[in-house]
Parts: sequence; structure tokens; C-alpha cells
Amino acid sequence: MRTLYAKLAAVLLALLCTLGLLYGAFNLYATKVFLQELNQRFNRDLARQLLVQRNLGSEELLDERQVKAIFSYYMHINPAIEIYLLDAAGNILAFEAPQMKIKRRAVDLEPIRRFLRSDDHYPILGDDPRDETRQKVFSAAPYPLQGEPRQYLYVVLAGEDYDNMEALLHDSYFLQLSIAAVVGSIVFGLLAGLYAFNLLTRRLHRLTGLMGHFRASAFKQHEPYAGSAEAAQLISRGDEIDVLGATFDQMAQTIIEQVERLEQKDSLRRNLVANVSHDLRTPLASLQGYLETLLLKSDLDDAQRRDYLEIAFRHGERLTRLVSELFELSKLEANEAQPQREPVALGELVQDAAQHFQLRAEQQGVTLRTEGGSGLPFVSADIAMLNRVLENLIGNALQHTPQGAEITIAMTAAADGVEVCVANPGAGIAAEDLPHVWERFYQAPERRHGGGAGLGLAIVKRIVELHGGSLRVDSSAGGLTRFCFTLPRWETPKT
Ligand SMILES: Nc1ncnc2c1ncn2[C@@H]1O[C@H](COP(=O)(O)OP(=O)(O)O)[C@@H](O)[C@H]1O
Ligand SMILES: [Mg+2]
Repeated sequence: MRTLYAKLAAVLLALLCTLGLLYGAFNLYATKVFLQELNQRFNRDLARQLLVQRNLGSEELLDERQVKAIFSYYMHINPAIEIYLLDAAGNILAFEAPQMKIKRRAVDLEPIRRFLRSDDHYPILGDDPRDETRQKVFSAAPYPLQGEPRQYLYVVLAGEDYDNMEALLHDSYFLQLSIAAVVGSIVFGLLAGLYAFNLLTRRLHRLTGLMGHFRASAFKQHEPYAGSAEAAQLISRGDEIDVLGATFDQMAQTIIEQVERLEQKDSLRRNLVANVSHDLRTPLASLQGYLETLLLKSDLDDAQRRDYLEIAFRHGERLTRLVSELFELSKLEANEAQPQREPVALGELVQDAAQHFQLRAEQQGVTLRTEGGSGLPFVSADIAMLNRVLENLIGNALQHTPQGAEITIAMTAAADGVEVCVANPGAGIAAEDLPHVWERFYQAPERRHGGGAGLGLAIVKRIVELHGGSLRVDSSAGGLTRFCFTLPRWETPKT
């Protein structure tokens, strides 16, 4: 009973029954009045004709005995009528019926006068002598026909016998048929209405089902109400339910995405906190340890002091770098740092970056070589961010290149921009580690003690993604390691 369908059905049923009853009652009433009017109009002159045809006009007053005989005769011919003789005040003088049947001594003259004026609307109802309250259609004539009436002939047109017959007919085939017709139309209307409601509510039903599923899945899974192709069409051309469904689809999709994003962010943050606290604790503990030793031990010579201070300083440095890298990465990941794009000539930029590492390379006995820097299209990039990418990649290469080897930075025009590859020989990265190098805090196991924290490549990845570029890495253990990224070509903005 709680479904919309059941409610609509109940309303429809109540409506149809009320209408059926009202219609039936009105129809009965209208038929009755119609029959009365017909009867009265049809027999309007009945009383007058009686007087005229019987030639009753010679005496002062009608003789009660004589009229009684006439009454009997006519009532025999037409059992529907009852004839009465009234005096000028309406008192009943003569009738043809058992005495006990007559319940009134007089009838109201007012309806009779109205009838005789005959300017009124039919049916006109007069008192029925055979009942204290009932009123009936009648025909009446004054006696004498001209001049001041001294008596009235009063003919009740639908007398008792007529009533009896009518009551009998209530059970008749015709009446039963019309009741059946009314009931039949109610049932038909009900069925048709139920079918139509079912069609309408079916979609609502489906929609509530979908919403229920969506909620039950903790707002994670949604089976769309409309296919993606229909959705736009439904919104512009569908009815309210369709619009509701399509809008719900959009809302659900948005909610799912938001929830996913929130969960992702949440787990990222949790990971970050765990990793950060771990990575900060190690150098902090060392820093503290060395400083403590310096404070407590008084018998250290100058060289030892210097050593300890240098170690403490390096740990401090490492902490600073770690914190600033973390800060950088979290800004990039929170989408706070958006690239300020401009047209960039990669050749010069890469040359500058290589220059920047030249000194360190020379100290390590490594050569830095750039390839293919000329004739490239401009790329669309944020110069500062691009510098970070190059710094991280070249820095990594320097870290992993053995003495005497060569690092190449190659630039080639790609399908929709430029690809830059930094390649260095060295120990390489094991195949099972390759997919993980981009993850934050990831460092190949044997390098965990190194200077970085495993954030450099994560920063690289994020920056390249923000630029809409792609990344790849290939390496064979003991061979050449190559990190490549692409940047999109600069498109002159259309004005
Ligand atoms: N050129 C390279 N050759 C070999 N291994 C590399 C190279 N670049 C990066 N790696 C591996 O990827 C890991 C992650 O690099 P990165 O994110 O820059 O962290 P970090 O340099 O702080 O260790 C490094 O620890 C290293 O194991
Ligand atoms: Mg690094």
C-alpha cells in the first residue's frame, strides 16, 4: 500500500466508484423526472376530456354516485390512473377505492391552480390522496369548465398500481443490464487506469530500484537509468521521469567520482604520512646522535669534531631536501601548482641544464652529451617545472653512471611534440623494479641509503602529466638505462 502505484490505484478506484454512484443516482433521478414530465404533458387534457366526453355539464354540481361509476370504468381501462372528485376547497368528495386506502381528506389546491394556468414548468406535483406525504403528477379540470370552479376532477397519473408495477420492474432485465453496464464501465476504467499507471510508474519503480542499489553500494556503483547515447536526448525530449532519471545518472556519476577521488586522496595522504615520518625520523635520529656525541664527549680531537659536524650537516641537508621535495610533490599532487605554459625552445633549455651539471660530471669523470637540439618545434611548457624534470633525470643519471662513462640527452620530434631521453650506462634497473620507479618513496633496494628519498621521479611524473605528456623507461640490468618523456607542441593560440 506504500507504493505510488497502489496509491494511484486506490485514488482511481474511489474516483470511479463515486462517479459511478453519482452518475447512477443522477440518471435515476433524471429518468424519473423525464417520465413524470412526459406522462403529465401526454395526459394534460385527460381530466378535461373526461368532463367533455361524458357530457357532464348540465347540473349545478357533479353527482358523486354518477362520477364514481365513471371513475370505476376509466380506472379499469387505464389502471395507471386514479380519479378523484374535489370540492372548491380541495376536500375529497368521491373516489373509487377501498376507504382504508385513502389517507388524506383534502389535497392542496395550489399545484392544481398552477396546472390550470398551465404556464409552469412540467412536471407539477400534487398531493397523492393515498399517502400522507407522497406527491404525484396529475391532470385536473375545474367544474364547470367555464366560470368560477365549484368542483375539480383530479386525476393522479401514476397511481398506486403504476408504482407497484414500477417497483416490480426494478428487478427487470433492463435495469439489471444498465447496472451491469455501469459496473462494467467502472471495472473497465479501473483496469485501463491500472494499466496506464503501471506503464507510468514502471520507470519510477525502476529508478527507485537503481537509487536503492546505488545507496546500498555505499555510493560506489551505479547502473545508469539511460544509456549514455540516450541521456542527452532524454533530458531535452523526455518527460519529467526521464529527466529525473538522466539527471540522477549524472549526479550518481559525479558522486562516484568524488568519492573515488576522496578515497584516493585519503589513502595517498595516509601513505604519505607513514613514509614521511619514517624518512624524516632516520636522518633526524642520526643528526641528533652526532650532535649529542659532540656535546657529551670532551676528549674528541679537532679532526673528529669536524667529521662529526660534517656528518650532522649532511643529514641536516638531506632533511631539508626531503622536506622541500615533499612540499613540492604535495603541491603538484594537490593541483595547487599549475604549469604556466609558454613556448619553449627545448634545445637551449636542455643545453642550459646540462651546463648546470657540467662541473659535477667532470668531478665524477662522466661526460654529458646532448643530441638533436636544433630544428625542433617549440613545446608548450612551464620553464621552471621543465627544469625540475631535467634536473631530476640528469641528477639520477649522474648518480648511477660509473666513472668514465657517457650520459646522452637526446631530443627527437615526436608525433605531437618532442621527446627527450636521458640515457646512461650503469647497473640498470631490474625488470621487476621498472614499473615502480615512478612511485613516490620508491628506491631500488640496493640504493636505499643514497642521498634521495625516492621522490624525484614521482615529481617528474606529476609534472609531465600536468603538461599532458607521457613517460617511459627502459633498462636492462647491467646495461643502458633510459628515461624518456614527451611534451606537447606549442600551438599558437587562435585569436
Ligand atoms: N638513471 C638511473 N639508473 C638506475 N636506476 C635509477 C636511475 N634513475 C632512477 N633510478 C632508480 O629509481 C629510484 C627512484 O629514483 P628517484 O625517484 O629519483 O629517487 P632517488 O633518486 O631519491 O632515489 C632510484 O632510487 C633508483 O633506484
Ligand atoms: Mg633522484
